[in-house]
Amino acid sequence: MRQFVLAANWKMNKTPVETAAFFQTFLSGFSPSPGRQTVFFVPALDITTAIGATNGRGVGIGTQNIHFKKKGAFTGENSAEAAKAAGCEWTLVGHSERRSLFGETDLITAKKMKLALECGLKPMLCVGESLDERTAGETMKVVERQLTVGLEAMTAADWASVTIAYEPVWAIGTGKVATPEQASEVHTAIRAWLERRAGAEVAAAMPILYGGSAKPENFREIASQKNIDGFLVGGASLEADSFLKFCAW
Ligand code: PGA
Repeated sequence: MRQFVLAANWKMNKTPVETAAFFQTFLSGFSPSPGRQTVFFVPALDITTAIGATNGRGVGIGTQNIHFKKKGAFTGENSAEAAKAAGCEWTLVGHSERRSLFGETDLITAKKMKLALECGLKPMLCVGESLDERTAGETMKVVERQLTVGLEAMTAADWASVTIAYEPVWAIGTGKVATPEQASEVHTAIRAWLERRAGAEVAAAMPILYGGSAKPENFREIASQKNIDGFLVGGASLEADSFLKFCAW
């Protein structure tokens, strides 16, 4: 049985003090359950606070970005090795904001995937089409290209540590959520792609998350569709009460 994964992407929000306050409220209402993983992708400067606040409470902490080189003269970048040493279990790779605002290419995501695994982090690869690409009927062409290049170096041993998040760019932070059918169609196609690429067993075990304006009011209908194994939640993960509604489902 594959895991159901609820992941919060805080982006560049919350100070360490706000992070500590969040977890105080969140953890008073949270209990871990089997078959589920709960993950917080927090800003790099909040990682230590988040790890300290959640130690032993059944949630994982991740970094939102890593550099593709292990160390060196890369001023301002996050090291995967340091994130792991600080207690992170996870990292996002290829979030659409990284791609569109910071020039992250498919080839860069491929290098980050490999380095994350080498450093013992579980990478969550984000894929998704823009509105223009969807309108042009190119959704699956784009998603398959992102998957093909981003996951090119994965070996049989790597797959168990990989997670995929489908996030249509036009739905991120816009309040415009994909319909359950739109999400399910792409998730089903991603699983079919995985089956071709890595075999039926890997495809069946891979959690594929939906992200893009997921809210307490709209996620249940999406969650009940085929091939949807969790959510990557931005705006609606910033308030403990709101994110707890996802976790309590
Ligand atoms: P959103 O962000 O839930 O605020 O749309 C999702 C994301 O960017 O991961």
